[in-house]
Amino acid sequence: MPITYNQEKKLFKLDTVTSSYILQVFEEGYLIHLYYGARIPDDNLTELRIVAFDHSAFEPNNARVKSWEFSPTISPLEYPASGTGDFRIPAFTVKAPEGNTATDLRYLTHRILKGKKPLEGIPALYVNSDDEADTLEVDLIDRLTGVVVTVSYTVFNNTGAMTRSAYVRNTGKAPVELKTVMSASVELNGADFRMIHLWGRYGKERTYTEQPLHHGIQGFESRRGSSSHEYNPFAAFAKNNASEDYGEVYGFNLVWSGSFSFEAQADSYDNTRVNVGINYKDFSWLLKPGEGFQAPEVVMVYTTEGIGEMSRIYHRLYNKNLIRGEWRDKVRPVLINSWEAAYFNFDDDKLVAFAERAKKLGIEMLVMDDGWFGHRNDDHTSLGDWYVNEKKLKGGLSSLISRVKALGLKFGIWYEPEMISEDSDLYRAHPDWCLHIKGREQSNCRNQYVLDMTRKEVRDNIFDQMYKVLSENDIDYLKWDFNRNLTEVGSEGLPPERQTEIYHRFVLGTYDLMDRITKAFPHILLENCSGGGGRYDPAMLYFSPQIWASDNTDPIERLTIQFGTSLCYPASSMGAHVSASTRASYETKGNVALWGSFGYELDPLKLSEETCDLIRRQIAEYHKYYDLIHKGDLYRIETPTENPCRCAWEFVSPDKSEMLFTFVIIRIVNNPKYMPRFKGLDPNRYYREETSGEIYSGALLMNAGYNMVNFSRPDGASYKLHFVAVD
Ligand code: DGJ
Repeated sequence: MPITYNQEKKLFKLDTVTSSYILQVFEEGYLIHLYYGARIPDDNLTELRIVAFDHSAFEPNNARVKSWEFSPTISPLEYPASGTGDFRIPAFTVKAPEGNTATDLRYLTHRILKGKKPLEGIPALYVNSDDEADTLEVDLIDRLTGVVVTVSYTVFNNTGAMTRSAYVRNTGKAPVELKTVMSASVELNGADFRMIHLWGRYGKERTYTEQPLHHGIQGFESRRGSSSHEYNPFAAFAKNNASEDYGEVYGFNLVWSGSFSFEAQADSYDNTRVNVGINYKDFSWLLKPGEGFQAPEVVMVYTTEGIGEMSRIYHRLYNKNLIRGEWRDKVRPVLINSWEAAYFNFDDDKLVAFAERAKKLGIEMLVMDDGWFGHRNDDHTSLGDWYVNEKKLKGGLSSLISRVKALGLKFGIWYEPEMISEDSDLYRAHPDWCLHIKGREQSNCRNQYVLDMTRKEVRDNIFDQMYKVLSENDIDYLKWDFNRNLTEVGSEGLPPERQTEIYHRFVLGTYDLMDRITKAFPHILLENCSGGGGRYDPAMLYFSPQIWASDNTDPIERLTIQFGTSLCYPASSMGAHVSASTRASYETKGNVALWGSFGYELDPLKLSEETCDLIRRQIAEYHKYYDLIHKGDLYRIETPTENPCRCAWEFVSPDKSEMLFTFVIIRIVNNPKYMPRFKGLDPNRYYREETSGEIYSGALLMNAGYNMVNFSRPDGASYKLHFVAVD
């Protein structure tokens, strides 16, 4: 049983394949966290001295608790509140009708359920059948206000992953104000961890970084209203002796596309509290009697097999229990996107010329990017006017699509549904439909404003406009862009006491619109984008099986981006294109882009014959290796963080019968020796390297390595080696 309850000891045990997670209802109903780590059989953990210590008189206690060692500020509370004896970072704070913020949560009841329920209004992992998971819900009550928090845990069978979330109900008689509602708070045993996370900026998303924890609070956040280029809602805590292939690692990934907060507090007793959830700084939420509030979910992974295995657990889980719809399993078409080929400067004939050449190269879909609507010839106008610019597309959209389809290509289109240009019919008709604060100057950002997605009439208008175009035309793919963050966050649709809810309601509004579009057009392949990868998060993957990883298409820069992305996001999710960017050969551009959902971002009419031949071969390889890359296991062999001179990675099929190794030389070094030791093969099987025909045992390839001394190595060169089991 993955979830058990020992009535006598009041102890919950949640087992994944790799981990045990143990809670106990302690004296006076305090819910205590006893253990999260490698799987253990025991359920008699009360002797573990992690619950309480002989502490000084400065640590408060509850007078009714008999265990004198207990103190809310040193004992590991499962969902800690604030102002009632715990001085560490709280997971939950509510402002009572009387105006104070002291909050105290105690056990009320619990349920153990088969399967996993969807979360209301927000994306979450799902089960394909109820046998895939089990769920524990524990209700905690703040008796003074009548606020009940249900903390939920789902254990996914056959993986090392579980999820957590929190749902708040006001069962009291008066309105309260939610100030902090974290999705999870986990007490890790010890403070000897490195915190790994992903930082970046536009064009440099999801760059790996790690720091040893120090005593005190450390963390990162987004306050931008989106999950952002700057920090990704992901962190791993690796024991100081853990590495890519060995050791204990805890991963946390928040299924949320708005502002978020990750905080770790290494406390004075050498425990580490990790709090993950929506950003509490620009947030408060009025909860009237009878109302509920759903906090998003966190996906938690534990392994003793290093950072690499943590990534593989996330990848498998997301490919099966997060990404949805028919495109989850269907082979994604190789696309060519008009953006870097033409920017705003295109018409129907130019696009058809692109399509004609693309078809000859083996490309399967033409995507018409920004610039097809209103009178948009640059980025100053027309967002919100989602009707075709017939001056550009003479004969209209359906005529263009028929011409493209007649060539045998699929057709994709670009939208930026959450935005509005000042120069648009929509803005002229509804100047109050953007986020704004009366009397304050509006910040300018890419010459556009953000639509007030909290308002249903705004979402309805955009939905109707999109519905018209998408239902009247044969469209296979939609790129959903988001090119600025939220400022002057005010809404004319909400009363003053709810203005602090806008950041949150904005994201809910976006999810509502995405949900309606994906339900109305389930056959359309949705690709998310936010100025590249500024909204690359699990919640977006729930709607769009792939996300444009970055506007930076330089293959060497992309290595850092793709390695970072791979910490928790699968290859299948990563939009990766070959572009005309100057650095490196087309071969290396292709080898790097092959890692993700593949395509081209260039003018196909400007390619040499030699490049055209190479592109045909690349597309054949994309199909040849599709299952291996999209469904196989990633092993990072050398990362740009470890080695600024070369990078290498592998994909191994789940049955270990096939492996593709890719190696990129970033910068030549004066050391001819290179013998990578491969990973993830079966040591007892033999593998043939396809080009040379040579056969090696898995044991040799993993322990002795593969001799690459004779591969020529100019800067920017790259190689692929394909090994297939010979049995
Ligand atoms: C930002 C995206 O990342 C680009 O690929 C392109 O779609 C532009 N927006 C269009 O404005």
